Amino acid sequence: MTRTNDRKDGGRRDGKQNGDDGFEQVLNYVRDEMEPHIDGYTRSYLRRRVDSRIRRADCEGYEDYVELLRDDADERRDLMDAFWINVTRFFRNPDVWERLYETLPDEGSLRAASVGCADGSEAYSLAVLCASKGVDVSVTGIDADPRAVEVAREGTYDADIDELETVSFVDDATEYVVEKDDCLEVDREIRRNVDFVQGNAMDVSNLFRGYDLVLCRNLLIYVRADRREPIFEGVTGMLDDGGLLVLGKTESLPSDYRQKYTTVDGRLRIYRKK
Ligand SMILES: C[S@@+](CC[C@H](N)C(=O)[O-])C[C@H]1O[C@@H](n2cnc3c(N)ncnc32)[C@H](O)[C@@H]1O
Repeated sequence: MTRTNDRKDGGRRDGKQNGDDGFEQVLNYVRDEMEPHIDGYTRSYLRRRVDSRIRRADCEGYEDYVELLRDDADERRDLMDAFWINVTRFFRNPDVWERLYETLPDEGSLRAASVGCADGSEAYSLAVLCASKGVDVSVTGIDADPRAVEVAREGTYDADIDELETVSFVDDATEYVVEKDDCLEVDREIRRNVDFVQGNAMDVSNLFRGYDLVLCRNLLIYVRADRREPIFEGVTGMLDDGGLLVLGKTESLPSDYRQKYTTVDGRLRIYRKK
């Protein structure tokens, strides 16, 4: 079977396979065999990811695609790769990091987590920020995607040093993440303070406790509004009283949780647990 296709119609050649029923079959297969939390994500998001894989795999439609998933472990992996969007970078949204730099204490130690950590850049950015402030930190990076966790543990990135040089408030960031063989490599001292585990944000509350800071950024946007509750419950349970929660800049606390937090910076989505 050819694996590339330029069709822009979502692989929808066959009207019969086109509809919600066919798509439902794909979701059923994914839910039962691959990812039990699939229903937590918005349908439009899932459909875009599945349609894109169908086009690339040159399948006739959803039913054909379910067959392919059953037969082909590579396609199962590629679908999951498409599904977990790992877009991230060091110090993504520098204004948030600058505010964190000002808000975090100047001494002592900190337990922090990056939930939905992708390739680990976010967790390492936090460790660099703390090192630069002279604060001892231990960061746990958590992601549902096992391949992202693997990359994160490596701590080597095909990225440009400019990513770090633009971060003016941490003047020594490039001491902690260094250029090596056209890659960026996180310094061993920083890596020592960061560990990564595969885990689902929808199940974190019982597993992780006692954090001073939880970053949960740019993950909720993919999750259906009515399925975000376990994630908020989870990250709230992870934090000690007085701990900070940072969401993505387009994400916000649902009304049920607003009374549990005070707002440190509403625009930058930084909250403090009461
Ligand atoms: C767009 S990235 C955000 C990375 C980073 N937090 C940032 O803001 O740059 C979203 C990450 O969330 C992960 N993710 C999605 N759903 C998840 C879940 N239920 N539990 C844990 N990680 C999840 C994806 O695998 C992906 O790596």
